[in-house]
Amino acid sequence: RFLTEDIVDGGSEVPDSSYYAAEFARAGMDFLSLSRGGRFEDAKQPNVGEAAYPYTGRSGYECMPAYISDERGPFGRNVEPGAAIRKAVREAGFETPVIVTGGIHGFEKGERILQEGKADIVGIARQALADPDFFLKVRAGCGSEVRVCEYTNYCEGLDQKHKQVTCKLWDRKELDEPGVKRTLDGKRRTTAPAWAGPAA
Ligand SMILES: Cc1cc2nc3c(=O)[nH]c(=O)nc-3n(C[C@H](O)[C@H](O)[C@H](O)COP(=O)(O)O)c2cc1C
Ligand code: SF4
Repeated sequence: RFLTEDIVDGGSEVPDSSYYAAEFARAGMDFLSLSRGGRFEDAKQPNVGEAAYPYTGRSGYECMPAYISDERGPFGRNVEPGAAIRKAVREAGFETPVIVTGGIHGFEKGERILQEGKADIVGIARQALADPDFFLKVRAGCGSEVRVCEYTNYCEGLDQKHKQVTCKLWDRKELDEPGVKRTLDGKRRTTAPAWAGPAA
C-alpha cells in the first residue's frame, strides 16, 4: 500500500507515485493498493507522553475525510489520482490490479469506478466497520438494511488514543446479549450485532 499523493509540502504527487507504481509492478507486486495523505509530517504536536498520530493534519483529512468538508465534499477524493496511476501502470505494460480507497461509501459508487476502469478493486474501510455485513446485504439485494457510516470519525478518535476500535452505530447496542465480547474497559462491544439475513 502506498499513497497517490502525500499532501505535504515537498511530498510525492501523482507523477511520482505513477513512477513508483510502475516500478512496483515491474518488481512483480501482486497488487497495488492506493491510499492518500495520512502523513506524520503535518500531524499535530502530541501531548507530552503521547505519540504523534498521522491523521490529525491536512494530509490526514485527505486520507480519512469526515462529513464536514470543503466544496469537493468528503467522497471519492482518491479516485481520480488512483485512475491516473492505474493508467500509468497500464501504459508501462503491466496488468497489475490497482485498488483505490477513500470515501467510497456505497455499491453504486464502487461499481461505477470499476465500470469506468478507474480501479480494479474498490477498498471500503469505514463503511465496512459501520456495517461488517455491508457486502452480504448488498449482494442479497438488501441495500436498505445497510447501517450507513456517518463519517464522523469516532472510530478514528479511538484509534488515535490507542483504544480498541469500534463503531458508534453499534458498539453500545445489545450489550447484554449472551456471548458478546467487550472492550477491555467493558463499556463497548467489539463486534457488531449479527445480521439475521434477508427479511422473509
Ligand atoms: C480506525 C482507522 C484506522 C486506520 N488505520 C490505518 C492504518 O494503520 N494504515 C493504513 O494504511 N490506513 C489506515 N486507515 C485508513 C483506511 O485504510 C482508509 O484508507 C481510509 O479510512 C479511507 O477509506 P474509507 O473512506 O473507506 O474509510 C485507518 C482507518 C480507520 C477508520
Ligand atoms: S464510528 Fe462508525 S459511523 Fe462513525 S465514521 Fe467510524 S465507521 Fe463510520
